[in-house]
Amino acid sequence: MTTGLDGIIAAETVLSHVDGTAGRLVLRGLPVEHAAEGLDFEGVTALLWQDFHPLGGNGRRLAAAMARARVGVARRLPLLLPATAGLSAVEALRLMLSSLADGSAADDAVTVAAAVPVFVAAHARHLAGLDPVEPDEHLGHAADFIRMLTGSAADPAKARALDTYLVTVSDHGLNASTFAARIVASTRAGLISSVVAGLCALKGPLHGGAPGPVLDMLDAIGTDGAAPAWIGAELAAGRRLMGFGHRIYRVRDPRAEVLKRALAPLSSPRIRLAEKVEQAAIAALSHHRPGRPLATNVEFYTALLLDAVGLDRSLFTPVFAMGRVAGWTAHVMEQEATGRLIRPASRYIGPLAA
Ligand code: ACO
Repeated sequence: MTTGLDGIIAAETVLSHVDGTAGRLVLRGLPVEHAAEGLDFEGVTALLWQDFHPLGGNGRRLAAAMARARVGVARRLPLLLPATAGLSAVEALRLMLSSLADGSAADDAVTVAAAVPVFVAAHARHLAGLDPVEPDEHLGHAADFIRMLTGSAADPAKARALDTYLVTVSDHGLNASTFAARIVASTRAGLISSVVAGLCALKGPLHGGAPGPVLDMLDAIGTDGAAPAWIGAELAAGRRLMGFGHRIYRVRDPRAEVLKRALAPLSSPRIRLAEKVEQAAIAALSHHRPGRPLATNVEFYTALLLDAVGLDRSLFTPVFAMGRVAGWTAHVMEQEATGRLIRPASRYIGPLAA
C-alpha cells in the first residue's frame, strides 16, 4: 500500500492541469509558457480567481485592490515585527499571516495575497536593523516587493523576471501545500487559516524548501569539473539532489525551461555552472534508480532566477509563497464552493485488544 496518496484523485478542479508524462502545465486553459509571457502576478491571480471572487477575471481592478491592501497590512508591522525575534524568514511569515483574522473569503483573499510581500520585505529589513519601506500603491506587486525589500526602485528587468517566476509557480494541481489548504478549507475554518496551513506544508525541503539548498549545492560543487564526483558522492551517501525528481513529472518539469528563459536577460554568474551540474545530475540520476525517471524540477532554476534578482536564499521559500498564494486562495474558494468535508479513511493495522 502507498502512504503518499500517489495517483489518488482527491479533488476536481478547473484551476490547473499537470501532465507528468508530457511535461505540460496548463493554468485555466493557458499553457504555463503563455501565462508566464503574457501575465503579471495580478493577472494570473485574476485568471485563477475567475468565477470564485468578485474581482476574478479583472486584473486591473484586482491590482488596484491589492495595492491598497498592501498599504493596509503594512500598518500592522509595528506590532508584528517585534514578535518575530529568533524566527527564520518563512517562520516569521507564518507568524505574521496567522495574525490576520478569518473573515469573508473575498476580502481575506486580497488581504493575504497583498500581505505576503509586505511581511517578507519588512522582516528581511528588520533582521538587517532597517525600518520597513512603505508600500507604493502605484507599483505592481513584484516591483513594489523589490522596492520594499531594497529601499530602491526595482530594475525593470528584475521586476519582470520576478513577475514571470510568480506566475510560473502560481498554481500546480494538488501539490502538498494546496492539498493542505483545501483540507482546512473543507472544514470551513476560513481562508486565512487555510493559507497558513498551505504555507506550513510548503516550508519543507521536499516541497518549497528546496531552492535554497540548490544554491548551497552549487556553492559546494564550486567548479564545472567537480560536478560528477560531488554528485556521485551525494547519491552514494543516500542523499537526494535538491532540484531533481518530482511526484508527478517523469520528464523535465516544464517550469524549469520557462524560468531558465526568464533568467537569460539577468545574466546570472552561476548559469554556466548550473548547466554543467544539471547535465551531470541527469546523467547520474539515470543510473541511480533504474525504472524511476528523475528529472530537473522547478526548484533548480528557481534558485538561479531568484538569486539573479538579488534575493538572499533565506527568502526563496517565502517568495515561493508570494506566488503560490494565488493558487492556494483560488483552491480554497473552489473547495468552499463544494461544501464538502475532506475526510479520507485509514486502515487500522494495530491490535484490536491489548
Ligand atoms: N535525488 C536522489 N534520489 C531521488 C531524488 C533526488 N532528488 N528524488 C527521488 N529520488 C529517489 C528516491 O530516493 C527513491 O528511491 P528509493 O525508492 O530507493 O527510496 C526514488 O527516487 C523514488 O522517489 P520517491 O520518494 O518515491 O519520489 P516522490 O515522488 O515521493 O518524491 C520528491 C518527489 C519529494 C520531490 C523527490 O524527488 C525529492 O526529494 N526531490 C528532492 C527535493 C526537491 O527537489 N524538492 C522540490 C520538489 S518540487 C516542488 O515541490 C515545488
